[in-house]
Amino acid sequence: MNTPVDTAHIQAQDRAHFLHPFTDFKDLAGRGARVITRAENIYVWDSEGHKILDAMSGLWCVNVGYGREELASAAYRQMMALPYYNSFFQTTNVPAVQLAARLAALAPEVGGRSFQHVFYSSSGSESNDSNVRMVRRYWDLLGQPERKVIIGRINGYHGSTMAGASLGGMSGMHAQGDLPIPNITHIGQPYFYELGRPGETSDEFGLRAAGWLEEKILELGADKVAAFIAEPVQGAGGVIIPPDSYWPEIQRIVDKYGILLISDEVICAFGRVGHWFAYEKFGYRPDLVTFAKGVTSGYIPLGGVMVGDRVARVLIEQGGEFNHGYTYSGHPVACAVALANLDLMEKENLPGRVKNDIGPYLARRFAELGEHPLVGLAETCGFMAGLVLTRNKATHEAFKPELGVGMLCRSHCFRLGLIMRAVGDRMIIAPPLVMTHAQIDEMVSLIRRCLDATLADLRAAGQLD
Ligand SMILES: Cc1ncc(COP(=O)(O)O)c(C=O)c1O
Repeated sequence: MNTPVDTAHIQAQDRAHFLHPFTDFKDLAGRGARVITRAENIYVWDSEGHKILDAMSGLWCVNVGYGREELASAAYRQMMALPYYNSFFQTTNVPAVQLAARLAALAPEVGGRSFQHVFYSSSGSESNDSNVRMVRRYWDLLGQPERKVIIGRINGYHGSTMAGASLGGMSGMHAQGDLPIPNITHIGQPYFYELGRPGETSDEFGLRAAGWLEEKILELGADKVAAFIAEPVQGAGGVIIPPDSYWPEIQRIVDKYGILLISDEVICAFGRVGHWFAYEKFGYRPDLVTFAKGVTSGYIPLGGVMVGDRVARVLIEQGGEFNHGYTYSGHPVACAVALANLDLMEKENLPGRVKNDIGPYLARRFAELGEHPLVGLAETCGFMAGLVLTRNKATHEAFKPELGVGMLCRSHCFRLGLIMRAVGDRMIIAPPLVMTHAQIDEMVSLIRRCLDATLADLRAAGQLD
């Protein structure tokens, strides 16, 4: 049952006291925030009683869906036994140890490299800050302190702390706060739809896009480059799925120059692309893997870094004290919830379901959306997907950005009871991994109605030929 909420009162308090992340404060104060009061399975309800299908899993995190009693019970039990203790001063706690061992067992060994160690944080951003600290320490310990530069990608997203936002390549974020911080630079993204040349195949483009890494390394001097960081599939950038040729070529290049490879799997791990960890799907061998979100299905904050043997060995054998960590590193309640979440994911075989069942089904249904007159491209990877709104299906002509066509479509989604995200004119989804075929059908027909409504508006406004 929805607890009765005085929407106007909550909105007034929200306006008066709560500065929301990534929000135009004044604009939101003018319109009033939507108050979400409860959720079950793949649906959320607002304070006015509207039921909304959440095709974004919250913020790419509620992999097991809402309302899972097992996770609430795990938190309750752990809070009663040991709600908190730190792991700074030669102490540890049982859930943190058990989770580290479990994650080490889940992370597949590739090319003789395994992940036996975990460094915990509470978020993706903090985890990427930890990555910067570990990468720099690693090269210092190896007597190569001049290897400082970390290369990221334009339109990549690695969080919102100073280091996270710097590693990411979002120009709007860099513009606020004098970012990136020193020794972080970026190359182009592997976005074939936008950057492919006429006549170029997607695999040819993938090799060319990976080649930008080699060009950057040579420009900087290989002895100055510490690491390359990338998302397997760029999430917040718009579900940008790289061509098949991209990752193997990136691996060849980082191997050639001895550069560390960081796979930021905050979105892509824990079943999202049909595997526990996404590097397995794409066949590359990272040295560090960032995780967060899906590890607890977002029920409680937890993040961390899977530290591969290459880095762990140096930090452990040669490092002495590592002067870095957080109050909540290895939080017992968060780790207990993560263990319960992994139990559920294993029991329901969610990665396998995405790989062999609902992922392929979503791909088929999305291909049908690709035939809609407003859609220039519809593509999926596991259980995430994007479609590009275009003025002209044949030429892929984009709408003028000032028209805000993606936001127009998103507002139709909300009106019709669907949460879909707009990144420019790319509409994206990453639904809970527990969706049934019938729910996928329901989602796809809602998306079609949103596209139809957007198309009707654009025709009425004379924006289509
Ligand atoms: C790939 C990636 N890295 C890092 C982050 C930052 O995570 P958090 O918001 O938990 O700090 C995100 C968040 O969306 C992400 O998608």
